Amino acid sequence: MTTVLYPGSFDPIHLGHLDVIEQSMELFGDVVVAAMHNPSKPSGMFTLDERLAMIEESVEPLRSRPGSVRVVAFPGLAVDAARSAGVDFIVKGLRTGGDFEVEQQMAHTNYAAAGVRTVYLPCKPSLVFISSRFIREIAKYGGDVTAMVPAAVVPQLISAVQRDQG
Ligand code: PNS
Repeated sequence: MTTVLYPGSFDPIHLGHLDVIEQSMELFGDVVVAAMHNPSKPSGMFTLDERLAMIEESVEPLRSRPGSVRVVAFPGLAVDAARSAGVDFIVKGLRTGGDFEVEQQMAHTNYAAAGVRTVYLPCKPSLVFISSRFIREIAKYGGDVTAMVPAAVVPQLISAVQRDQG
């Protein structure tokens, strides 16, 4: 069985992320989802622990499927998360050409720095428009994001908005 690391901000996890996790379980078997810090996205909504808890709840229905999924929070580099989890390589989802530009640079950097390879998975076409940034934005203005996130995320978004506005 192959073990892969799926790192991301997951601020919050959405249905596009869940699709990449499902694809990874099907294709590779063993998936470690790592909630990480993205230094270029400092204005997030949830703490690392909160993101971890939402991912845990969201992947619960996948645990009855073949393969396995583990969830970790890792505050450092993706390559160190990969080493510490003992994975074979990193997986990333691609929605658009814009994602490719960003991911390609990270993949080359991670390989040059630590010899860790990255495999891209195309996101399901019906989900390619979803982004955590817009989910946070819609939630802040009281909009409905239930079509974009796992059910466990909806109450957490409402609480986070109330906390930020209170
Ligand atoms: O979901 P995101 O924000 O696109 O994920 C980006 C993430 C968190 C995977 C990336 O920022 C990352 O790897 N952060 C950890 C720090 C790191 O390894 N930086 C070097 C990148 S080449």
